[in-house]
Amino acid sequence: MAKARTFFVVTIDGPAGAGKTTIAKNLAQRLGFCMLDSGALYRALALALLRAGVRPEDQFIRDGLLESTRISVEPDIGGMRIMLEGEDVSSHIRSEEVGNAASRFSAKPEVRRALLDIQRGVAEKCDIVAEGRDMGAVVFPFAQAKFFLTADAEERAKRRYSELTKKGQKPFYAQVLSDMMARDRRDESRDLAPMIPADDATIIDTTTLTPRDVTERILERIGFII
Ligand code: DC
Repeated sequence: MAKARTFFVVTIDGPAGAGKTTIAKNLAQRLGFCMLDSGALYRALALALLRAGVRPEDQFIRDGLLESTRISVEPDIGGMRIMLEGEDVSSHIRSEEVGNAASRFSAKPEVRRALLDIQRGVAEKCDIVAEGRDMGAVVFPFAQAKFFLTADAEERAKRRYSELTKKGQKPFYAQVLSDMMARDRRDESRDLAPMIPADDATIIDTTTLTPRDVTERILERIGFII
């Protein structure tokens, strides 16, 4: 019997604003790999829970709700679409409200468990660049190449501020910075799968680097592995 093909997995972890999504997209396009934006899954599940009337501060999620929520990923070369109950929610999940709810729901073990198989399933279909908080340490411990991106909080808040401004929103920089720091604290301090680099991840500080610099640096490193 033919041996099942092992797909190549590149993981990119790190805090919000470190450049993960841009870099993961660039890499996926350059390598011809699919992309897994795991934050989008947490956001889609948060949207489903909010729609069902569950709030992040609730202690329990009612029985059967997580199991019956249908979330799926349609991976594509260089990108992905995210479906909730058959509806494409790729743009609905981008609000600050959903992002903050995702960060709070993601501390619940049952939420993380509900998304584990969906994430691993993507790497059974194609070579992937997976980005998130715990891709290298928890979801894909056997990934062939692992990276952890960081940047100063002020620089990350500036990037987020300009992203929101480009979308036509009028955020306050101080608010963006304090939301970001609160989100970092939550993501780093949760008991389960906290945001920390995998032992074998290469750490890249992107504060003074362009996305192009970071992409080239990672490609060069992957070139040694492939
Ligand atoms: O990357 P993002 O902003 O789209 O992620 C939204 C939230 O989802 C983030 O604050 C924490 C959570 N998340 C997680 O806990 N684990 C991941 N692998 C990805 C995201």
